[in-house]
Amino acid sequence: SKNAFISSLIQRMTLEEKIGQLNLLTSDMDITGPFMKAGYKKDIEAGLCGTIFNAYTPVYTRQLQEMALKTRLKIPLLFGYDVIHGHKTIFPIPLGEACTWDMSLLEKSARIAAIEASADGLQWTFSPMVDIARDPRWGRVAEGAGEDTWYGSQVAKAKVKGYQGSDLSSPNSILACVKHFALYGAIEGGRDYNTVDMSRRQMFQFYLPPYKAAVDAGVATVMTSFNEVDGIPSTGNKWLLTDLLRKQWGFKGFIVTDYTSINEMINHGIVKDEYEAGALALNAGVDMDMQGSIFSSQLKKLLQDKKITIAEINAAVYRILSAKYDLGLFKDPFRNCDTALATKEIMSAEHLRDAQMIAERSIVLLKNEHQLLPLKKEAKIALIGPLANSQRELIGNWSAAGDYTKAITLLDGIKSKTSNVTYAPGAHYSSDTMLLKKALQKQRLTVEDTANSAQMLAEAVALARRSDVVVMALGESQGMTGEAASRSDIRIPDSQKELLKAVYATGKPVVLVLMNGRPLTLEWEDANIPSILETWFLGTEAGNAIAAVLFGDYNPAGKLTMTFPRNTGQIPIFYNHKNTGRPLDVNNKYTSKYLDVSNEPLYPFGYGLSYTQFTYGAVSVSKQQITAADKLQVSIPVTNSGNYSGEEVVQLYIRDRVGSVTRPVKELKGFKKIFLEKGETRIVTFDITIEDLKFYDKDMRWTAEPGDFTVFAGPNSRDVQSASFSLK
Ligand code: IFM
Repeated sequence: SKNAFISSLIQRMTLEEKIGQLNLLTSDMDITGPFMKAGYKKDIEAGLCGTIFNAYTPVYTRQLQEMALKTRLKIPLLFGYDVIHGHKTIFPIPLGEACTWDMSLLEKSARIAAIEASADGLQWTFSPMVDIARDPRWGRVAEGAGEDTWYGSQVAKAKVKGYQGSDLSSPNSILACVKHFALYGAIEGGRDYNTVDMSRRQMFQFYLPPYKAAVDAGVATVMTSFNEVDGIPSTGNKWLLTDLLRKQWGFKGFIVTDYTSINEMINHGIVKDEYEAGALALNAGVDMDMQGSIFSSQLKKLLQDKKITIAEINAAVYRILSAKYDLGLFKDPFRNCDTALATKEIMSAEHLRDAQMIAERSIVLLKNEHQLLPLKKEAKIALIGPLANSQRELIGNWSAAGDYTKAITLLDGIKSKTSNVTYAPGAHYSSDTMLLKKALQKQRLTVEDTANSAQMLAEAVALARRSDVVVMALGESQGMTGEAASRSDIRIPDSQKELLKAVYATGKPVVLVLMNGRPLTLEWEDANIPSILETWFLGTEAGNAIAAVLFGDYNPAGKLTMTFPRNTGQIPIFYNHKNTGRPLDVNNKYTSKYLDVSNEPLYPFGYGLSYTQFTYGAVSVSKQQITAADKLQVSIPVTNSGNYSGEEVVQLYIRDRVGSVTRPVKELKGFKKIFLEKGETRIVTFDITIEDLKFYDKDMRWTAEPGDFTVFAGPNSRDVQSASFSLK
């Protein structure tokens, strides 16, 4: 049996070999953190490193695996990598893909990622990232599903299922890793790696459920976060890793740290040196040290000094070997790793088709005045903007092994529909030298190589004047979002804004195609530009997907999963806030508001338009009063009253009017994505059970309290119809 096999192996292992299994090192193929350890291959040969990340391709992983198989006990290596939104076929960034509101698609892209990654020699991905984030200044919002706890939990489950499949031993299943445990999305000021501080109630109610959902879905591994949780860094937090994750939630897999986060506990000021850091991490429940080499340098001495026990080491080794066993690596260390298979699977026509389909469904139509969209193919189009012909930006941040040279640009996509298009870049990504340099570095350019900005702008304006309609591709370069890419101001960068204003001043109709990794502040754009499409970074098939939407071959149906503020000062702004004791009353000075901006976001959570119109009737409930055993049915008629057939995401929210602790003004509890032909009406129904009414009460019990509730249904979190019922 597995237990007998692993236990007997552990008995035969030396202490050094055991510690080696707890050591995860990056290869030099890709570096995703502050430094690299030279000589990692020597560690493999000496049996001092059991897992490698940032190494892929059948040839390279085979070479490293062969080294491991020459060691005394021939324990196979495990290969991990940040396969975040696709391996080679790149899908939309997770924040964009979440806007599909389609769990089967989210599962599908993870499945495809697993098929490609496993064919490329990998068995483990550092995904999904399920950190709830309410602050778009944080660059890593791009990697998650947005601000909502319930929705984020659905996404977490779908992703784990997609990566791991139903059986880890199946050759194209890979281990998922839920991250970053925990609360990383709540860093102060949205500044990456910053402190987190929140009440237990806030944690349990709003931030922890998506990690728990991943654990319940059987996620094989968990990654600790860089931040502290209640004053103790996650990586050394026994309450978090052992009491909560293992004991309370029953997590059976292994826990890996984030990149050097054991070492960083010294900077946090929780330990004085590496020796103490190693003890704190192992005692807290960490199994694997990512890139810090603390376990390899300190555990032996710590054991001699009785600061840790051999039982702790054995337990960690067991969990890691157990994952290798479940993957079938002991039977076949080269599992699925074969160049012919990689050639067949990677970027197959089928995967690219799915990537385009998912990219189309991730696009959110934010505004479409006078039905400027869809465009007519006969129109003379000026395509303007630094993002219009960029391949690198399109595959977005954390696109790891993604080959940007295969990405379809917006220019290519439009050209596949019409020859009536002319392109001009018009501006650099940013006039901020730091941001510009960063963007250019990625393209191996320097500021001196770039054309004169004034000339670029003049050419673009002249092109706009000669056209019938202007499509402008603006937003962020991929380096402006993601890890270590927080921004204190989330506007479209000035150089591009200036371009937009200059083109707008020509009087030509403008379609703004946004490419970015976070919500942006778009007040001026919303007030002036007739059509706005949020396209995020859509991946390999971005250009084809956007063109399909621009020309109406696909009617957009994406809905935002993160609020778009009016200005940065409104942050944090999210739909499921509390009511406060002085809720907004515009006629009363002494209520909760700003003097210079409304409390309302620009685009609320759940928002997104279609080329058609959906009209909602009154919402009704099947009963006025329910008991704990009842099921309440909520119904709402939805009619496609516009001129196109299309999909709509009908959303259901609940408010608990009075609780033993204060409750949010609204919480998402369900959604249905429906397709309606032009003129068609459907009555959409939702079942509400006692489970949907539960929360952490004043004594931190997960329970529903009797009393009055309001249900809301509609196309987004703002424009809803309501009805009420009570729980006896
Ligand atoms: O998986 C990532 C993590 O999200 C951030 N630090 C580096 C890890 C491995 O590349």
